[in-house]
Amino acid sequence: MKIKYNYQFFSKFITFEGIDGSGKSTHIKYVIELLKKFNINVIFTREPGGTPLGEVLRNLLLNKLMHPETETLLMFAARREHISRVIKPALKKGICVISDRFTDSSFAYQGGGRRILRNKIKILEKWVHPNIKPDLTLLFDLPLEVAKNRLNIIKSLDKFESKKNDFFHSVRMEYLRLAKKFPMRFRIINSNESIINIENQLQKFLLYFLRENNIQ
Ligand code: ADP
Ligand code: TYD
Repeated sequence: MKIKYNYQFFSKFITFEGIDGSGKSTHIKYVIELLKKFNINVIFTREPGGTPLGEVLRNLLLNKLMHPETETLLMFAARREHISRVIKPALKKGICVISDRFTDSSFAYQGGGRRILRNKIKILEKWVHPNIKPDLTLLFDLPLEVAKNRLNIIKSLDKFESKKNDFFHSVRMEYLRLAKKFPMRFRIINSNESIINIENQLQKFLLYFLRENNIQ
């Protein structure tokens, strides 16, 4: 990874969260461009995945049926690799890391959706990343039906995306519970809006976040 000498040191970890079809991928590009305007060096990554082994695990996780606990453990196995190979090295160099999903997804999908006990996920969280947590989490929130309609238009659905509404309802409720529990870290984006309105919400939150961190 090359860093230009004039990049600002900005060792921040920003995560994008939300149910499938909530608009994360669409808006990540906008956020990256905005940060680059401030001379911030950014890398983009995703979970599950982000490393060669992680991408192999992603393929299994998204396509194979498995016990919910196996699924949870594999999510954290991929995450362990992701942290040591991608997230930590970048943050150490002062590079801002943007990740499409992180551990909040495990609480929401495996905890909320699959009903794995929260305490079991907390144990894995403490084991795998006791010292790393996102500095900012952008939660894309919208009604399930809107997300599902958006997804149905574009693609055939994977294992998670084809789950029923009550699964996604629980996932969404768990996300909202997390956002309420960690208000300093979470920002809720109303994703049931036009793309331009979502960009405006993101801009407002990000400019505030940058100012808080002395980036003008
Ligand atoms: P995610 O990454 O959260 O699964 P995507 O960004 O891939 O979601 O969005 C799912 C679909 O919805 C895409 O076809 C995208 O173009 C569309 N989309 C995203 N945001 C909006 C929006 N605000 N209004 C209408 N369609 C949208
Ligand atoms: P995502 O990359 O958003 O899917 P796509 O690129 O197809 O839009 O996420 C992959 C799926 O993995 C998503 O349905 C949520 C699920 N997931 C979990 O269940 N637990 C986790 O810890 C993570 C990181 C993802």
